Amino acid sequence: MEKNLQEQAISDFELVSFCEAIYKRYGIDFSCYEPTPFKRRLKNCLLKFKFNSLIDLWSTLLRDRGFIYPFMNEITVGLTTLFRDPKMWLCVKDLLLQLTRTNKQVSILHTGCSTGEELFSMAILAKELGVYHKCRFVATDINEDSLQKARMGEYCNTKWADFESNYRQYNPKGKLVLYCLQNGNTFQFDPLLLKNVEFKKHNLIADGFRQKFHLIFCRNVLIYFDKVTQINIVNRLHDTLESEGFVVMGYFDSVMPIIRDIQLNIYDLNMKIFNKASSPT
Ligand SMILES: C[S@@+](CC[C@H](N)C(=O)[O-])C[C@H]1O[C@@H](n2cnc3c(N)ncnc32)[C@H](O)[C@@H]1O
Repeated sequence: MEKNLQEQAISDFELVSFCEAIYKRYGIDFSCYEPTPFKRRLKNCLLKFKFNSLIDLWSTLLRDRGFIYPFMNEITVGLTTLFRDPKMWLCVKDLLLQLTRTNKQVSILHTGCSTGEELFSMAILAKELGVYHKCRFVATDINEDSLQKARMGEYCNTKWADFESNYRQYNPKGKLVLYCLQNGNTFQFDPLLLKNVEFKKHNLIADGFRQKFHLIFCRNVLIYFDKVTQINIVNRLHDTLESEGFVVMGYFDSVMPIIRDIQLNIYDLNMKIFNKASSPT
């Protein structure tokens, strides 16, 4: 009797062959992704798009180039929100003040920016501190669809309550509505918040960075990767930091297992903020 989808296990061999095929066709390397959660997301993808097996999904991906976008949406799960972890943003506020005091211009990188909520949080924070004009932002993600949503800055009204509640925890006296334009079932952030923002498609595993940054956000992205890849990425971020720069990781990034192997210093472990280790003299 045929097993239903829930019962079908994806073997390690199937996973490796699947990843090799995707890599050959699209140049996207999933081999560094943690196998167990990756298999779970693949199964969700089979259910969502009503494929009977991994082979069906595989052949659709090989035949239909357009399907890579919905596939990536499902696999890279871009869950995010405005002012996610409000207490962390209070620390970021202090960091930005410090950086803008000592630098004429502050460059800020948001890796894995997803649909842009983290970027808008930072832009609002910079506006409210009166230092937006000194900031240059680069926002990157592997997922082109998510980047496009971030560029639009338009969100469904169902997200409003969550956005506002987080923002209120960050700034009880602020008014989020000042930054948004209501538009039927959606609201859009003021496009001026994106004035100093450049969006780029970028794969953290394979692509390098052409410039250095004072502040790097790499939040809730490392969770997808195996330990060796996490260490490589963090060490590359270290090399991408200006000498007095900071890296902010996410609440869900378990950094303890990699902490001994990375070049960054701990700045605030609770908030998962790290700074550049000075090079030995
Ligand atoms: C959970 S979201 C995090 C969003 C935001 N940083 C936050 O913490 O709210 C993770 C994002 O990482 C992106 N991502 C996954 N693999 C990536 C890779 N290899 N390179 C760059 N971004 C990647 C996904 O597309 C997704 O948008």
